[in-house]
Amino acid sequence: MDNIQNFKRTNYCGEFRMAHVGHTASVCGWVQRQRDLGGLIFVDLRDRTGLVQLSFDDSTAKDIFDKASTLRGEYVIAATGTVREREAKTDKIPTGDVEIYVTELRLLAKAETPPFEIVANSNANDVLRLTYRYLDLRRPDMQHAIATRHKICKIARDYFDEQGFLEIETPILTKSTPEGARDYLVPSRVHPGKFYALPQSPQQYKQLLMLSGFDRYFQIARCFRDEDLRADRQPEFTQIDLEMSFINEDDIMSIQEGFLKRVFKEVLDVDVQTPFLRMPWQEAMDRFGSDKPDIRFGFELTDISDIVKDCGFGVFSGPVAEGGSVRLINVKGGAAAFPRKKIDKLGDFVKTYRAKGLAWTRLTEEGTTSSYAKFLTEEENAAILQRAGAETGDLVLIVGDAKNEVVWAALGALRCEVAKQMELIDPMDFKFLWVTEFPMFEYSEEEGRYQAMHHPFTAPMVEDEDKILTDKANCRARAYDIVLNGCELGGGSIRINTPDLQEKAFQALGISAEDIQERFGHLVNAFKYGAPPHGGLAYGLDRLCMLMAGASSIRDVIAFPKVQNASDLMMSCPDVVDAKQLDDLSIACTRVEEATEE
Ligand code: AMO
Repeated sequence: MDNIQNFKRTNYCGEFRMAHVGHTASVCGWVQRQRDLGGLIFVDLRDRTGLVQLSFDDSTAKDIFDKASTLRGEYVIAATGTVREREAKTDKIPTGDVEIYVTELRLLAKAETPPFEIVANSNANDVLRLTYRYLDLRRPDMQHAIATRHKICKIARDYFDEQGFLEIETPILTKSTPEGARDYLVPSRVHPGKFYALPQSPQQYKQLLMLSGFDRYFQIARCFRDEDLRADRQPEFTQIDLEMSFINEDDIMSIQEGFLKRVFKEVLDVDVQTPFLRMPWQEAMDRFGSDKPDIRFGFELTDISDIVKDCGFGVFSGPVAEGGSVRLINVKGGAAAFPRKKIDKLGDFVKTYRAKGLAWTRLTEEGTTSSYAKFLTEEENAAILQRAGAETGDLVLIVGDAKNEVVWAALGALRCEVAKQMELIDPMDFKFLWVTEFPMFEYSEEEGRYQAMHHPFTAPMVEDEDKILTDKANCRARAYDIVLNGCELGGGSIRINTPDLQEKAFQALGISAEDIQERFGHLVNAFKYGAPPHGGLAYGLDRLCMLMAGASSIRDVIAFPKVQNASDLMMSCPDVVDAKQLDDLSIACTRVEEATEE
């Protein structure tokens, strides 16, 4: 095997163009492919920037030619030679006009045949890709995604630095932070029976940094949440986390809009229009059935409860009588796209959102068909279609439920589903909005009590401050989310900055005075020493990268992600540990997962 002593790379593989012809160049990387045509050998060499062709012919020194003939896919080599114009050019790769005629070749490492081909858009299955993630990452689309992620971080650092933010690290071994998920715990050896929690976010630290007078804080922060995984959720993820003092919502939003404008321009050359639309939470729910609406297309929700409340059809009148609602979406031009069978599938779809069923009217040139019209009067039917703005060619879809949350969730998801099926969604159209005025509390059926919708440090809206203890259902918060194309990209709020109000907020959540001291004493006590008005926001960096890279899962923009059951297939973790390690930590396991056959 050769070594890399006295070898100096002059260029990355993807750089070569006609302007380089005649230059001597040294490159290194992995063999993508070797073609031996007898008297001619071509090697496609790959590094993170792309491919370049190396060529060898009958004038090549024999030892070099022989070595070239032994090269196989994924061997690691270094080569020096002269850049020359190719005889057979290709526009399939950016370096396709030229090749390097090799005069020195070093074989640095051999490689076994990889378990899947190292190419863009691999069709290898996810388990294989993630078990051999280090090979998966060699693929050009993964290289691009990870490089894009770096670029976004770099722009974030530059931008927030220019805006006067200081990057400050906060601890990973810390105390539980209430962001709504389960904590990952780390046992303490020195304090038997005690645990650190990994941070769900740096929330309390960043607020304390404001109290310490840092004025503007920023961090690319690793967060840990033990929650069910989805395409946009990982147990370990990264936030671009910010906090500012002496500001209001407008200041925070305009700084964020500046950041997003810059990122989209520099990374994708996309001009984002600012300021972004702002929409109160209630309006978002009423119009889109979602607090993270995709506003690239219409199909907005319309309430028809008033029309059907006294109708003889219990499926509609029942939910209204029980305090819920009946709402519809008009899928413009949807009649052709959704024949009867497909509408039945949409019915199954809404059931996954706990809706009991889907009522519909389909208006075609041939006539109108409906699943419910026969149960209503002519006037009621006409009023519904008029409210929907329905015309020939449209499809009206209706959901009623005693719980508004079910109607919103079902129709909110349905409008996205039909838009997807009708191929109305352009992934390169980026539509941002701020959703504001979130409810301060949400009722948890499971817990049987109100919980903070954002987190318990969020300030109530000034005009709703009195409702914090007396009218929780109608108390709105100074919280905002930044939403992009139906994805919650980030969220934040103006915080409470007085101990009295903070205690009240804890009280509203049913946290006892004793518990307040034990869990949040540090914060409440700190606020006694002069906390500036402050607020902030955190972006999900992974989600931002996913949307910008056009990926369908955040897994594709994280170098070493976890799979659905939160394990890392490459490292085989979580894993058992030595009895000695457990003993040191004073831990005895009461249950151990049985070994599973991979
Ligand atoms: P929040 O809990 O809304 O707010 O989180 C902020 C953003 O982080 C991203 N995110 C996630 N990304 C991937 N996997 C996850 N499991 C995950 N959970 C959240 C989302 C989300 O919008 N401390 C507050 C922020 C603040 O108030 O300043 C917080 O963490 O994109």
